[in-house]
Amino acid sequence: QKPVTESTAKKVPTLPDAQTVTEVKHYTDRLFSFKCTRPASLRFRSGEFVMIGLMGDVNPKTGKQKPLLRAYSIASPSWDEEMEFYSIKVQDGPLTSKLQHIQPGDEVILRPKPVGTLVHDALIPGKRIWFFATGTGFAPFASLLREPQTYQDYDEVIITHTCREAGELTYGRDLIEALKDDELLNEVIGEGFWKKIKYYPTTTREESAKMGRITDLIRSGEAYADLDVEPLNPESDRAMICGNMAFNLELKDMLEEAGLEEGANSKPAQYVVEKAFLD
Ligand code: A2P
Repeated sequence: QKPVTESTAKKVPTLPDAQTVTEVKHYTDRLFSFKCTRPASLRFRSGEFVMIGLMGDVNPKTGKQKPLLRAYSIASPSWDEEMEFYSIKVQDGPLTSKLQHIQPGDEVILRPKPVGTLVHDALIPGKRIWFFATGTGFAPFASLLREPQTYQDYDEVIITHTCREAGELTYGRDLIEALKDDELLNEVIGEGFWKKIKYYPTTTREESAKMGRITDLIRSGEAYADLDVEPLNPESDRAMICGNMAFNLELKDMLEEAGLEEGANSKPAQYVVEKAFLD
């Protein structure tokens, strides 16, 4: 076997699952989003995730490169021409230490096998839907908030987002602001559809308009009062949870206590939960 030099390493053929990066936006030193081309044959349901990554370094012993892949929620809606993802940056994270440096024109690997439980199919009909997110757990809701079915299925959509710092709310806030001008949603759902949305951003480690963990704010009743809504009720409420592990578990317990049952694709019920990706 020939030794691997820089010139032979570059001859590794483009992978069949390679997609081209079209846009990158940085929000804080811990967060960024990017868009890439969509595989022509890829169909997915808003809220699902795929495996995303980059080629790893060449192994000096074998001369081979292996893809480095992680599960990423698709942040773009099912009808969009492009794919969008929202990611953390971990300075020593195997993937995100590299992924944070991608530029338009670069290639990423996208395995076109979407899966996940944060989908409308996993919930039984209801009147109100709660999207509970922390950090990059906002990503699947960025997809679902741009999905017409969300507004066809529910009279009211409540999205809560808890982050450490105020700057970490920017991606979600910008996205919700932009919904007002979303042509497809205005056309399909009707002008003013966005009035169905109640947005509740909170921070825990930096001063902002609303401070505290959503779990505590719900327990104390403060969130209901701020939002001017009735407490959680298994008859009318459906919920999706996506955040860090401790948050997912705590909120799951709270929903169970309120009488909601966990659903799945194979057995739809009243709420579903998924862990946000961490490098
Ligand atoms: P806190 O700052 O009080 O830990 P992370 O960046 O660590 O994933 O956290 C994202 C957000 O989730 C932070 O605001 C964090 O609050 C919050 N959080 C962490 N654990 C829980 C939990 N069990 N319930 C509610 N929020 C939580």
